This record gives sequence, structure tokens and C-alpha cells, in this order.
Amino acid sequence: METVPYLDLHGQYRSLSNELLRALEEICESTSFAQGSATSKFEAEFAAYCEVDHCVSLNTGTSALHLALRCLDVGPGDEVITVSMTFIATAWAISYVGATPVFVDIDPVRRTLNPDNLEAAITSRTKAIIPVHLYGMPAEMDRIMAIAERHGLPVIEDAAQAHGARYRGRRAGQFGKIACFSFYPSKNLGAYGEGGALITNDASVAQRARSLRDHAQSQKYLHNEIGYNYRMDSFQGAVLSIKLKHLDEWNKARIDHARQYTELLKHSSYKLPAHMSDSECVWHCYVIETPERDRVRAALQDVGIQSAVHYPVPIHLQKAYTHLDYRSGDLPVTETLCEHCLSLPIYPELSKEKISRVATVLLDLENR
Ligand SMILES: Cc1ncc(COP(=O)(O)O)c(C=O)c1O
Repeated sequence: METVPYLDLHGQYRSLSNELLRALEEICESTSFAQGSATSKFEAEFAAYCEVDHCVSLNTGTSALHLALRCLDVGPGDEVITVSMTFIATAWAISYVGATPVFVDIDPVRRTLNPDNLEAAITSRTKAIIPVHLYGMPAEMDRIMAIAERHGLPVIEDAAQAHGARYRGRRAGQFGKIACFSFYPSKNLGAYGEGGALITNDASVAQRARSLRDHAQSQKYLHNEIGYNYRMDSFQGAVLSIKLKHLDEWNKARIDHARQYTELLKHSSYKLPAHMSDSECVWHCYVIETPERDRVRAALQDVGIQSAVHYPVPIHLQKAYTHLDYRSGDLPVTETLCEHCLSLPIYPELSKEKISRVATVLLDLENR
């Protein structure tokens, strides 16, 4: 039986191993292990790739979101509007600064923050808005930015799943005051360990973030505010520089895979992800919806096809956030997506044959 992994990083490593190992060796020989020239080089390259002025490399995407909120002086008593349909880290960052996450429902087609719900959630305590480009699909940034600007609120894009995506021709990450990326190994641009970055066109934000990530040192061992050790290590900078050169070709392969899935499944009863004409989604995940998600997932597993669930429980119903007093039914679109979502295997090196096999099994399962 031919198995289909959900994600397989071996192919990418094999194709780049000589170059990668040479770069890692150079760092060992330089002995500049933390935040050396390899990370600054990557910062310049990633800023250019995202078409922005500044990139601040960090140890994780979670730290990027945390620092973004610190740079905007969001703190206790403040509210930050975001979605509940995201990885938990989006909400963690809000909690880390002592603010309160306020969750709004998503658009059922894009699966990102629904601008129709945004204005009603804004209060005098709102200090920022964090849309999430979920599964690689940019949120509806023109409408979100128009509302944010009307209320004088900064926007932080959570672009952890959307490296290289475009909205109305512009790269994700260029719309808000700050955008945050994760380079967790499974991401479209993945490190060989943990990694993250924030990008911005605001020089003062970049400068503050650079200081905060390095213990908020004004000079060596002098600290003007509470800082963190959120530096990126040099190995990750070197790996990311090498991999960045291939990101567009890898994203293109993901786009082709998504088209193939959609073509093969278009007459099925599964709800398929939308291909939006205003965006170039980079398909971090290809997520179908079915009320029989658990049965379908188990049946795929039985024939050697791995899948994933992003995410089984929305953040507003997580135990960690019971104190916020949300109830089941508060965010119906989010809750339905959590119950029905099933992420199919997708990674650049996935073969057309494997995609066909997944689709064939899915179509067969409909008739049982
Ligand atoms: C939407 C989203 N936000 C934030 C993060 C946090 O990134 P990291 O795991 O690098 O801390 C992730 C990834 O895991 C994510 O998918």
C-alpha cells in the first residue's frame, strides 16, 4: 500500500543538503552562533522578498506577535481584536502583554476575519487588530484596513502561514503596521529548528523590536525596559537564506497541488477551499470540510493516508480561556469549521499520483 504522509521534509533536505551543510559548517568555523552575520543577511533578504523596509529576525513566530504588541505599547486593560480560528499563539501574545483577546467570527469562504463583524467589536479599550492569513489565504485587508484607519487602530498581520502570499498583487505583510512570521519547520518557509520574524516599514518599530529581542539593552548590560531573549540563532538564519531562494517555486507547486485537488473533488459533496480572484493563496494547508470529518479521517488513515485537523477546538472554547466567558454558539462559522475541517496532505514535493490517490479515496468514501 502506497502511504501518503501529511508532510514530508526529506525531499527538500536532499535537494539542498550540500549547500545547507556547507553553510552550517561555515557558522561553526566562524563561531558566531547567535544573531551573527547569517541572521542579518537573512533579515535583508526577507525584507526585500516581502517588499518592506525592515525585518527583525526572532526565535519564534509567537515572540514576533508578542514583540509586535509590545512595540505598540498594548498592555493591561487593553483589548485586541482577532479571530478564534487560528493557532493558539495568536491569542497567547495578547495574553502575554496582559491585554484581553476579543474574538470575531470568520468569513465562511475565505476563513479569515470577517470585516462585517469587525466594527461592532471595537470599543474604547481596543488597541489593535490582528487578522490571520489562515492556511495561506490573505485576509480581506482592504476592508480591514479601512475600518482600522477610520478608528485610528494599528493592524498586526499574523502571516505565520502565508509567506509569499499576495493580496491584490501585494505581498502579505505589507498592509498592517507590523506583520509576524513563523519559520517553524512545517511552514512554507521553515527553519531547521524554531524561527520567527517581524517586518515593518516603521523604522522606530524595527529599532524597538531589535532592542526588546536582545534584553532591551541600550548599551551592553544597560536595560531601559523589560526585554527578552528572542534572538534567532545563526544556523536558522543560514538555512532560511538558502531556502528563501526556492520559496516562490515551492509556493507555485503548492498552488498547482491545490488546483489539482479542487479539480478532482469539484463534483463531490465535500466543501472545498475557495480560490479567491483577489489573492494568491500559498496553500499552507488545503482544508476541506465535511460533517463526517472524523469518519473520513479514520478511513484515510486506514489506507495509509495521513491528514491533519487545523484546529479541533476554537480558541474561545479552549480551557485556557474559560475566564473570557465565551459560550458554544458565540462564533458559529468558526465552530462549524473546527468541527468539519480536514487538512489534506500538501507540500511542494507531493506527487500528482499521491494527490490523485487521496482524491480517489475521498470520492470512494462518499459512496459508502
Ligand atoms: C497562525 C499562527 N500564528 C502564530 C504561530 C506561532 O509561530 P511559532 O510556532 O513559530 O511560535 C503559528 C505557528 O505555529 C501560526 O500558525
